[in-house]
Amino acid sequence: MIEADQTEFDTEIDRRGTFASKWEKYRGTNVLPFWVADMDFAAPPFILNAIEARLQHGILGYTETPNDLVTAFQNWLRRRHGWSVPEEWLVWLPGVVPGINLAAKAVAAPGGSILIPTPVYHPFLRVPGHVGQASIKVQLVLCDDRWEMDFDALGEACDEDTQLFLLSNPQNPTGRAYTRAELTALADFCLQHGLYLCSDEIHCDLVLDENARHIPIASLAPEIAERTISLFAANKTYNIPGLGCAVAVIPNAKLRGNFLSAKAGLVHDIGPLAFAASTAAFTDTSQWLPKLLEYLRGNLQRLQALVGKRMTPVEATYLAWIDLSDLGIDHPGAYLDSFGLGLSDGVPFGGPGFVRFNFACPGALMDRGLQRFENALADGQKVGHGD
Ligand SMILES: Cc1ncc(COP(=O)(O)O)c(C=O)c1O
Repeated sequence: MIEADQTEFDTEIDRRGTFASKWEKYRGTNVLPFWVADMDFAAPPFILNAIEARLQHGILGYTETPNDLVTAFQNWLRRRHGWSVPEEWLVWLPGVVPGINLAAKAVAAPGGSILIPTPVYHPFLRVPGHVGQASIKVQLVLCDDRWEMDFDALGEACDEDTQLFLLSNPQNPTGRAYTRAELTALADFCLQHGLYLCSDEIHCDLVLDENARHIPIASLAPEIAERTISLFAANKTYNIPGLGCAVAVIPNAKLRGNFLSAKAGLVHDIGPLAFAASTAAFTDTSQWLPKLLEYLRGNLQRLQALVGKRMTPVEATYLAWIDLSDLGIDHPGAYLDSFGLGLSDGVPFGGPGFVRFNFACPGALMDRGLQRFENALADGQKVGHGD
């Protein structure tokens, strides 16, 4: 049973012995993990209670998507993100990553290519290989301390065989929450080049910048909605990623049919505990999420104070993308490991010289991580890596 005080964000919960991927990676070492996008906070009590209530039934058999979940999701999408979607547009999935791959299978004809701005959440970069497509990677560019799409470079990189654009918004790992103007430009770009769009919006409720707002790109206009597969889940926001429940919103009936055919027999159904948890999450209007966001802002400010200009502002997500190229180290991730700090190295994301810091953890753990980071930065400069 979860104790009430374990649900406070300050409470450190020992995850060792639970086979938590985040901590298992460094089992038997003194390295503290700040890598995979999974928070070191308990899920909120209303979710844990919903799981417990479902468990009381005793039978955990194959389960159809509950009507309550569909309604909860529709209401959530309308309430929080201003987009009304009918039930028939929805395809439920055990994860967002399977959804990205199925999106590629649904649109990809042989010999085509997929356009992917980088750096990006690394499973994106494996999608073209999974569906026998070429991969076209185009770097995001830094403009006034903000990572932006380079539409000229994107336009030059794609050709008539390019079929799909993969978008991460809010963007993992740069923490951008794209503006309406940027999303409109991207929608126009996709329409001009005849591209389908897969938009992974899993971090949409984790907007930290009080001046930013998440906009589902497919909600901009029917023309772009017709060419878009949007992916959502409550997993990141409520820290239930191990349960596995996500949903694709696909307005175009033909595209949805292709997606369902690609899914059949390949992707498993969702389990009843995940359904119960997601239903509770999408109905949440409590103060838990505003408090979480406030807590994350506190951790973010302390990280920003330490690394300064090496990091661009994080508008959304609990992930910071930090440029350590001034240290002149080939593998900054491995270098930081040696200081007991387990971050994600930038290379798999397409960002060598960078690291990604997951700052979703209790303050005391954050303090220990920041102390180690400070030591590593000081040492890196002292030994002249910065030349
Ligand atoms: C952008 C993004 N998409 C998808 C996922 C994973 O989604 P799922 O576990 O539902 O497959 C993550 C997890 O870090 C993510 O950051």
